[in-house]
Amino acid sequence: MAYPMPSPDLLRALAARLGPRGFTTDPADLAPWLTDWRRRVTGAAAALVSPATAEDAAFVVACAGAEGVAIVPQGGNSSMVGGATPAGPAEGRALLVSMRRMRAIRSISTEDNAVVAEAGVVLADLHIAVGERRRRFPLSLAAKGNATVGGLVSTNAGGTQVLRFGPMRSLVLGLEAVLPDGSLFQGLAPLRKDNRGYDLKQLLIGGEGTLGLVTAATLRLVSAFEARAVAWIGLRSARDALTLLRRLEDRLGEAVESFELVPAEGLALVLRHIPDTRPPLSHAWEWNVLVEAVGGADIGERLQSELMGAIEAGLAGDAMVAASEAQAEALWKLRESLSEAEARDGMAAKHDIAVPVADMPAFMAQASAAVVARFPGTRPIAFGHLGDGNVHFNVRAPAGGDDKAWFAAQAAAVSRFVHGLVTEAGGTLSAEHGIGRFKRADFAALADLVRLASMRAIKAALDPAGIMNPGALLPLAEDGSGQ
Ligand code: MLT
Ligand code: ZN
Repeated sequence: MAYPMPSPDLLRALAARLGPRGFTTDPADLAPWLTDWRRRVTGAAAALVSPATAEDAAFVVACAGAEGVAIVPQGGNSSMVGGATPAGPAEGRALLVSMRRMRAIRSISTEDNAVVAEAGVVLADLHIAVGERRRRFPLSLAAKGNATVGGLVSTNAGGTQVLRFGPMRSLVLGLEAVLPDGSLFQGLAPLRKDNRGYDLKQLLIGGEGTLGLVTAATLRLVSAFEARAVAWIGLRSARDALTLLRRLEDRLGEAVESFELVPAEGLALVLRHIPDTRPPLSHAWEWNVLVEAVGGADIGERLQSELMGAIEAGLAGDAMVAASEAQAEALWKLRESLSEAEARDGMAAKHDIAVPVADMPAFMAQASAAVVARFPGTRPIAFGHLGDGNVHFNVRAPAGGDDKAWFAAQAAAVSRFVHGLVTEAGGTLSAEHGIGRFKRADFAALADLVRLASMRAIKAALDPAGIMNPGALLPLAEDGSGQ
């Protein structure tokens, strides 16, 4: 599909409505937002448009739609899959619509246990705002200083608390969004039950901006906890890690909120590349797990005693429970810096895969062996959300070579291979990062036809002109060739 340039009349109308803070075509203003977070692709846009209200956002979409001009929505520009970069079919002709000016927290209700936050609210700011009211928004991830509510909703983001609270899909109570025809869907009521048929909100969650522009969300809150305990555990195998998780859940119940897997080479990368980090245990165990449990004042003692029991039972090798908030933060830093440490070490083909939880330990071992056999010298590394059956199964370039040349020549083939393995295992090639622009080809090639046809039908019904985020998520053509 060929996308037109916005006409001078359209650009003038947007400039007049949004003012200088909301509209620019200055290349210097656009530049920081044209390259994706992973620095893999740089796009181009006709203008950067920043609405300050839902009504302004609706005006932008309606005006663009009247000319068939494409829109690429953007929040904190922290997509792992190039989901918010104006590259692809409308490159240079799209409006890059930044939601960062819409950063009001419209309301917090401790009775409804709900917050209404606009699309541009940064996750870390949301945590602080609801914390002041003795509530928590129970979703966290390494990019919390940049990621925005609109992006989190649109990618159905996951993170490190999915184990207990689920991903965004289970935390969004209501949405406000501009649909591709410029109409404003006002569905912010904090309803816990709503059985009026198709759930438009759930189509927009994880829709990656291809079905509409999210302007605000009503999000579920939970009670603040009295205390948290964070522990680092050394183990001999990933299977032991899974057994340990179930044992802790049996004994501590819902207190276990995070259970994050870190392999020895992942910890070594962090210690090598991230300043002010030190090994938490005296021995370098083949596998490590970070556990966070929350509860009353005795949660630290309870976790400590369970971990001692696990060591005596031969399930864990060693463990340390943080003795202070500073130590807890230091342990989280080891886990949350993994992605950054890996990037500093060199290029890797990155994957965000899930299989049924019980299958993951065997899958990681078998897939690692298969990758190394097929691509000799590569260094697979798997870390992350074992309790969700979701790990980041990344394949690092062979040591000592030109990793950029390797990436350019091999990464796509490696990814197709890994995605093929996970599909054969009944899993998914995207557990929490989305499809975006980087995984679109593999998704189109490997997804079952019923899924793809249904998605195309939904897209065609809501966005017949294909103006919303072209190039992300979905190939529209039957032959998978693009939009
Ligand atoms: C994480 O779990 O650390 C994030 O999803 C980032 C990554 O995949 O590297
Ligand atoms: Zn992750």
